[in-house]
Amino acid sequence: MSKVFVLNGVNLSTLGTRRPEIYGTMTLDDIERLVKDEFPALDLEFRQTDYEGEMVGFITEAAGSDGLVINAGAWTHYSYALHDALESLDVPKVEVHLSNVNTREEWRRVSVISPAVDAVIAGMGPHGYVVAVRYVLDGGI
Ligand code: DQA
Repeated sequence: MSKVFVLNGVNLSTLGTRRPEIYGTMTLDDIERLVKDEFPALDLEFRQTDYEGEMVGFITEAAGSDGLVINAGAWTHYSYALHDALESLDVPKVEVHLSNVNTREEWRRVSVISPAVDAVIAGMGPHGYVVAVRYVLDGGI
């Protein structure tokens, strides 16, 4: 059975009510269910934290897995700690954003974690998580 980590960072626990015009109305639980329904045979580690150090621990833990999908939230734009943790992880890795960060504020167009992952998905809403997991299960490029 394949094991995939899907990690969600700071402020993503409030999905559903947080700026629904940008992030949609699905909660994080809804997104977890969507991924589970799509991949019923998957050993899915679906997690969220608002603590950067805890996220580093989750990333390190994913070393024994088949891949990692991460929506790092605002950490995306400034966390060198997450960059370094991801850089050290040798499994297929995908960065996901619900919104199309490239059409938003200037500072959201910068991702310091992108150089440490294999692929980036932005603007597909919750469906982006499904596509990212499919990519990981196919073993990357
Ligand atoms: C986000 C985009 C980030 O800029 C923002 O800080 C988030 C969510 C997204 O999924 O679109 O928290 O990662």
